[in-house]
Amino acid sequence: MTTPLDTVFAYHERTKHHFQRYAAGPGGLDWATQPDPFRSFAGSPQLALPLLGATTLQTRYADLYQPGAPAPHAFTLANIAALLELAFGLSAWKKYGATRWALRCIPSSGNLHPTEAYVVVQGTDGIADGVHHYLSRDHVLEQRCDLPADLPAETFLLGLSSIHWREAWKYGERAYRYCQHDAGHAIAATRYAAAALGWQARVLSGWSDADIAGLLGLDRDADFGDAEREHPDVMMLIGRNVAEPLTPQRAVAQAWYGQANHLSPHHAHDWPVIEAVAAACTKPETHEPAWQAPPLPDPLSLANQARASEIIKQRRSAQEFDGNTSISADTLFRMLDMTLPRAAVPPWDTIDWAPRIHLALFIHRVEGLVPGVYLFLRSAHLESKMRAELSGEFQWVRAEGCPAHLELYRVAEADARNAAKTLSCHQDIAADGAFSLGMLAEYESSLAHGPWIYRQLFWEAGILGHVLYLEAEAAGVRGTGIGCYFDDGVHDVLGIKGRWLQSLYHFTIGGALTDTRLETLPAYAHLKRE
Ligand SMILES: Cc1cc2nc3c(=O)[nH]c(=O)nc-3n(C[C@H](O)[C@H](O)[C@H](O)COP(=O)(O)O)c2cc1C
Repeated sequence: MTTPLDTVFAYHERTKHHFQRYAAGPGGLDWATQPDPFRSFAGSPQLALPLLGATTLQTRYADLYQPGAPAPHAFTLANIAALLELAFGLSAWKKYGATRWALRCIPSSGNLHPTEAYVVVQGTDGIADGVHHYLSRDHVLEQRCDLPADLPAETFLLGLSSIHWREAWKYGERAYRYCQHDAGHAIAATRYAAAALGWQARVLSGWSDADIAGLLGLDRDADFGDAEREHPDVMMLIGRNVAEPLTPQRAVAQAWYGQANHLSPHHAHDWPVIEAVAAACTKPETHEPAWQAPPLPDPLSLANQARASEIIKQRRSAQEFDGNTSISADTLFRMLDMTLPRAAVPPWDTIDWAPRIHLALFIHRVEGLVPGVYLFLRSAHLESKMRAELSGEFQWVRAEGCPAHLELYRVAEADARNAAKTLSCHQDIAADGAFSLGMLAEYESSLAHGPWIYRQLFWEAGILGHVLYLEAEAAGVRGTGIGCYFDDGVHDVLGIKGRWLQSLYHFTIGGALTDTRLETLPAYAHLKRE
């Protein structure tokens, strides 16, 4: 009999890209069925949200990492709107010839944006108690139902769901992975936006998928009809104090509003393995003790004085690097330091599980570090296990000048540019930056705790990616998430044989070149709103 865990292992294997064969996809893009990037619920009451003025939020990016800074902003609808804009809002429109497409504060594989965001509010002036869907294109909330939630004072719930079809349209079977990466980016983006307001944000990791779907109305067949369904991802509690436990909200709404739009007129392909892995990864209610981050020195400092909102809105993916720009070793150390969980420091304080992902870096241009392959371990006491697991030829030399709390090892001295490029589906961006990396998850041992942990591993990878995107902007360079890489090719280069470690996401950082053929237009010029 096939268990859910077997299904997850099988999905992961069959969606690996190999040098001689990519994971099964649609074999070309069918533009006639390109999914609408915006979900909306026709007929639901709409609430236009105020836009963040240019100077409304003074919080500096560097201060996000200082516990207690900034002081909490007032718990108002305008500030909830600011959070939604900074986390999920549009950041610009791009135009090339007659084609125009939106970019958002969060990145997304293929710019397809499978993640949808909802809020559940109670007792906030200017907005009805209930569940509301955020429509980023228009910066409006669409009310889905009236609901008397039972939330702590000055908090609200933010729920995330994924529409797998959006990614599957382009990427086929591997799309489920990308939806999870994007959910991870969305978790981090939410935490950073809350931090810019001096608020906390906590993933309610005990809730079941059924709890989330029930509260957000994702299980309402009548409202979706045959429109593309949304799968529950996570529920987060946000506000001035989110420490208290919160049991799943099971109040029943009296009435629901709105009908989900169809994203594509029809689907040229079905992807049953995505349905199967999604079912196998269904999360029950759990009661795990929260993991506590070990004490660490204060975060390494950052010279950049820019406001958090500026860094968040200017974030972009580099499409090409100059093959020349280097960064200092201190800049790299700061970036790595920000990937370590610390108590009460965003974004890692939003999740309550121990780090399960470590980094294999291909260092090309970092002043003061010999080019080569490096390993960065995000939890202590792992070196001997890693040494046993990875290539016996690796040297394990502590990186020169590295602060003692950062476990960064040079394992091979090499010009790794060609290898990095080849392993990341021959993409130049993996070779032409200052460094690129693969995220190595403790895979098999983590999944033994439940098949749904598969999703959490990708979320953690997405959070890591988001930290690196923002840190790159703050350092004056630029990052790009890389979902296309040859899984077992990476494992072979690192000497990984079994399933204890698997590479789940790649990332690259360097000096970006701008595509001058593209015109950039402001995010919300189409709205007549202040
Ligand atoms: C999970 C994930 C995987 C991605 N994979 C790639 C990739 O393999 N190659 C690439 O050039 N960009 C990749 N990107 C970057 C996206 O193409 C980019 O986020 C999207 O086009 C939106 O642009 P923006 O990030 O500038 O807003 C990836 C992004 C994410 C979040």
